[in-house]
Amino acid sequence: MDTPSDKPATERLFFALWPDKAVRGALAAYARDLQRECRGKRVPPQNLHATLAFLGNTPIDKLDAIRAAAARITVSAFDLHIDRPGYWQHNTIAWAGCETVPAGLQRLGEDLRAALVSADVKFDAKPFVPHVTLLRKAKRPQRFPPLVPVAWRVESFVLVRSNPQADGTAYEVIGTWGAITGCFPAG
Ligand code: 2AM
Repeated sequence: MDTPSDKPATERLFFALWPDKAVRGALAAYARDLQRECRGKRVPPQNLHATLAFLGNTPIDKLDAIRAAAARITVSAFDLHIDRPGYWQHNTIAWAGCETVPAGLQRLGEDLRAALVSADVKFDAKPFVPHVTLLRKAKRPQRFPPLVPVAWRVESFVLVRSNPQADGTAYEVIGTWGAITGCFPAG
């Protein structure tokens, strides 16, 4: 018989930039254009984000250390111009990213990853290539539809819990840290 202690005490976590409604709408609209070229499955609008660090399955007793690491980051607000569509064959995703990574984003990604290393929190250490995944199981497009650059003002970053559902994945923001707002981790 299952007891609570049989359940793995882990959660699937990642840090990300979370778009506001206007940015989300613009990205979702471009995902629809792109799907006409690439087929595949659109990421639901409410799930659109740009990952900063993917922690994956993480022991929940690490959560305090993870929040403390996030709280040590100084976020300087920056403008992210989503102006570059892309496609990766190795994981068949179509995405939107930026021609030039703003210095503020590069610093945020590096500082966060350094803070996680110091806190002995494991994460996927693949090189940081900022992107928003728009389609999964996509075909390489013959051409990318025109992308009207999306202006994304970034003032905060979030910690997200990924909750598997029968019909996909629900993402839940469980902490927010920011330039203006200061630290207000939720939950
Ligand atoms: P992707 O969109 O390019 O697949 C939640 O899964 C988020 O973490 C996604 O944005 C995903 O990127 C990102 N991610 C980074 N490394 C990952 C990994 N090793 N496995 C799953 N997702 C990863």
